[in-house]
Amino acid sequence: MKPTVQYRRRPCLLVIHGPNLNLLGKREPDIYGRISLAGLDKKIKATAKALGLDVSTMQSNSESVIVTRIQKADYDLLIINPAAFTHTSVAIRDAISAVEKPVIEVHLSNIHRREEFRSRSYIAGVSIGQISGFGPESYMLALRAAKGFLSS
Ligand code: DQA
Repeated sequence: MKPTVQYRRRPCLLVIHGPNLNLLGKREPDIYGRISLAGLDKKIKATAKALGLDVSTMQSNSESVIVTRIQKADYDLLIINPAAFTHTSVAIRDAISAVEKPVIEVHLSNIHRREEFRSRSYIAGVSIGQISGFGPESYMLALRAAKGFLSS
């Protein structure tokens, strides 16, 4: 009789970048930094690979596209920078609650030390946690947190 071998597939993560993050590098660089979205995605993919995680990334300016993508639920964990939708979107919050997948919220800037309206997040209450204020490194910290969460 052959020994039973269990093959566990690599965890698969989805990273969603919300509205205006396609302008990363050109948009308010004093706040959001000089790295482009393509450069950030490259760093995300390299870090994920080093951690043994599969990752795909997407950016959209459309709330409807983001909600539809979340609903697909074809990922083990979602890392999302909802950008301006953080402060407005009950629809994204409800999509996250509906699919019951773990979520980590990330922000490049520290949303709690900016305008008051930015400290309110509709997403934080349906997330494992929020990482905010470390620039591109916020995403890398989220990947590490995801790895820890998925292997616990
Ligand atoms: C952001 C912070 C939001 O308040 C803002 O609307 C963004 C980017 C960040 O990554 O710091 O677009 O999510």
